[in-house]
Amino acid sequence: MAAVIAGIGGWIPPNAVSNDDLCTVLDSTDEWIRTRTGISERRMVTGGLSTRDLAVEAGARALKSAGGSAVDAVVVATTSPDRLCPAVAPEVAALLGLGTVPAFDLTSACSGFVYGLATAAGLIASDVAGSVLFIGAEAFTTMVNPVDRTTAPIFGDGSGAVVLRRGAADEPGAVGPFDLGSDGALADLLAIPAGGSRQRSASAGPGHGAVPEEDWFLRMEGRPLYTQAVERMSVSARAALDRVGWSVGDVDSFISHQANVRIVQAVAEELELPEGRAPVNIDRVGNTLAASIPLLMNHAAVRGDLKPGDRVLLSAFGAGLSWGSTTLTWPEIAVEEVQ
Ligand code: UT7
Repeated sequence: MAAVIAGIGGWIPPNAVSNDDLCTVLDSTDEWIRTRTGISERRMVTGGLSTRDLAVEAGARALKSAGGSAVDAVVVATTSPDRLCPAVAPEVAALLGLGTVPAFDLTSACSGFVYGLATAAGLIASDVAGSVLFIGAEAFTTMVNPVDRTTAPIFGDGSGAVVLRRGAADEPGAVGPFDLGSDGALADLLAIPAGGSRQRSASAGPGHGAVPEEDWFLRMEGRPLYTQAVERMSVSARAALDRVGWSVGDVDSFISHQANVRIVQAVAEELELPEGRAPVNIDRVGNTLAASIPLLMNHAAVRGDLKPGDRVLLSAFGAGLSWGSTTLTWPEIAVEEVQ
């Protein structure tokens, strides 16, 4: 038994922000951002749009693609929830008219989509659910300091979703086996210091003043993260291939988390992946964390870079640190242009 992808959908908010737009408040240039990251523009939420709204848009499209309007559970992977409490997923389920199904959030930053696929597959394998709507949704630009040039150019907002149903391990769309890992010793390389219980308990104690403004925003040490990302994704991708019994040459499409085009290329090189098998969309959307992989799958399927029968390798890396990889054969499903 396996979890099989039966539908896909993606959405990006309408507000497109170019590098030049960002550089009106940022000490950077379009050339630096393009050459160091591969990003030309990203979408950013405005007008009160939040992760919940993005999740609903992608979720509705995935349900439509799957040809149904009911599922047994909803899981949302996000690191930019509307509020610390409650989770976004129950509200998303209600707004999509899915009733009182089990619904919860999962936080694993940029590897959230791979962790979430494994979780959804577990719900199906344990008979908790026969079908799951799994959404990666992020309004993460709200967590980034707009004048911090080390983080502001990198992130974008968006959402991507899949409907998973119970099926056979050897049918197209079946996800797994998985390779997942973490290294919490390096948690501080990518973190938002304030907002959680650590900061709250500290600021409530004697001798602690107000939280410095920058602590509400993401802090990132780009260089060591870059090295970790390349190493962890390469090793994890190989482990997932070993588990399914494919060689690198069998992979038609390497759908990698979109953190930096140079990271995608470096992992592809490290794996000795044949040329032209690592599609990207980071140029248009930036790093959308848990939405990155489903958005890329959606974009690649629309462009014809992902065709039914293609052997697909998924790999992600992010804060935690956390990483994960899995494989699937691309199924015959309806795909629509994102947005
Ligand atoms: O999503 C998963 C987690 N995230 C990642 O995996 C991110 C991994 N890291 C990266 O993608 C890259 O490290 C960055 C894109 C963040 C940075 O690129 P880099 O090539 O590693 O640059 P750097 O941090 O080593 O900085 C090089 C120079 C520095 O100046 P000096 O010291 O050489 O004079 C920086 O101050 O570039 C400077 N710099 C900038 N200059 C213009 C850093 N950010 C900018 C900027 N514009 N936005």
